[in-house]
Amino acid sequence: MITGASRGLGRALAVGLAREGYDLIIDARDAAALDAAAGTVRAAAVAGAAAAAGGPAGGGPVVGNTVTAVPGDVTDPAHRAALLAAAEAAGRLDLLVNNAGTLGASPLPALADYPPDQLRAAFEVNVIAPIALTQLMLPLLRAAGGAVLNITSDAAVEAYAGWGGYGAAKAALEQASNVLAAEEVTLRVWWADPGDLRTDMHQLAFPGEDISDRPEPESVVPAFLRLITERLPSGRYRAAHLTPAAP
Ligand SMILES: NC(=O)c1ccc[n+]([C@@H]2O[C@H](COP(=O)([O-])OP(=O)(O)OC[C@H]3O[C@@H](n4cnc5c(N)ncnc54)[C@H](OP(=O)(O)O)[C@@H]3O)[C@@H](O)[C@H]2O)c1
Repeated sequence: MITGASRGLGRALAVGLAREGYDLIIDARDAAALDAAAGTVRAAAVAGAAAAAGGPAGGGPVVGNTVTAVPGDVTDPAHRAALLAAAEAAGRLDLLVNNAGTLGASPLPALADYPPDQLRAAFEVNVIAPIALTQLMLPLLRAAGGAVLNITSDAAVEAYAGWGGYGAAKAALEQASNVLAAEEVTLRVWWADPGDLRTDMHQLAFPGEDISDRPEPESVVPAFLRLITERLPSGRYRAAHLTPAAP
């Protein structure tokens, strides 16, 4: 299950995991964009299945794994319940990726000027929702010996002017992950900084600036696949430190 998978890092991770043969449950608020992303992810699943079967030549149609799109807002308890129902229907849950996030106010205000309502909204999406979704999924995750991957940021640990609201929320998510790892010792709990990526959220942080020098989200997928498939110990990771060494 990957939240916020209609674009950016979430969609790139979904494509990467589909190629690995994972069944996927994905969400985002914009249903049309989520449907389009689900099509892309399904195509990746079929391509992955064909590659695993030695290519499409000489065989019948290749069926990829399932991709279930559940549109909604992670801050909405009814939507989180719909995600749980989708996971229960699937019968097991191996991995929850809490990727959906918000920058909060843009342009980024100094803490001196941060509107408290917008700060509260950023904490709802970036902290409360992933914790609440994890709570719901824990029984399935425990049953599968599964893993939780919370997507955080260097802004959680560095003091960048203007990043106080977003950074404080990501810092809270990091410490919640840290404690969850201590409490849920049969699971893996990872909290990971993907690094700067060329996405809508990054553009919002730098309005009007050319961000074309930032790497595409697909560039960090091998790092996250390594974390997941090698089942590395619970803890904080940076994608830049996980990128598999060149052969
Ligand atoms: N890009 C970077 O440089 C960077 C750096 C460090 C960390 N990160 C983190 O990486 C993660 C992904 O960011 P991104 O850059 O890929 O952002 P993005 O391109 O803006 O994508 C965000 C995704 O989350 C969904 N989303 C946002 N709010 C949601 C909500 N309330 N409920 C459900 N889905 C929601 C969006 O779809 P809808 O809008 O349709 O809901 C979209 O699919 C975030 O946690 C972000 O903080 C990004």
